[in-house]
Amino acid sequence: MIKWRDEYNTGVENLDAQHRRLFEIANEAYGLLRDELRVDKYDDIVAILDELREYTKYHFQTEEDYMLSIGYKKFLSHKAEHAEFIAKIEAVDLDKVDASQDEYLRVTLDFVCTWITEHILGRDKLYATP
Ligand SMILES: [Fe+2]
Repeated sequence: MIKWRDEYNTGVENLDAQHRRLFEIANEAYGLLRDELRVDKYDDIVAILDELREYTKYHFQTEEDYMLSIGYKKFLSHKAEHAEFIAKIEAVDLDKVDASQDEYLRVTLDFVCTWITEHILGRDKLYATP
């Protein structure tokens, strides 16, 4: 499970709420990983990936609009990090997912959770106190 911590708050209310929603999606994936009763998780994995990708795109757009609205100077490098994350999520090979579902879930979750927390602490918090 990935747990929200106070230090993740940027102080920008709607962006913090969106970050929390991303944590929820990651935790849905954790729940799926832990579900030992379900043999074939393929459809659920695809559904969670879709949700993650679409919500992340929506969130990044909101965040980028915010950064532009305050004239944030490091906008371009920040936006580039967002694009890199989306590219990675979009590059998923669904055949490989099907071949080793739990392993794929584990590796993806690891990547997503590390990325999100490091990005919030290392990048997002900079626009909070520019
Ligand atoms: Fe960001």
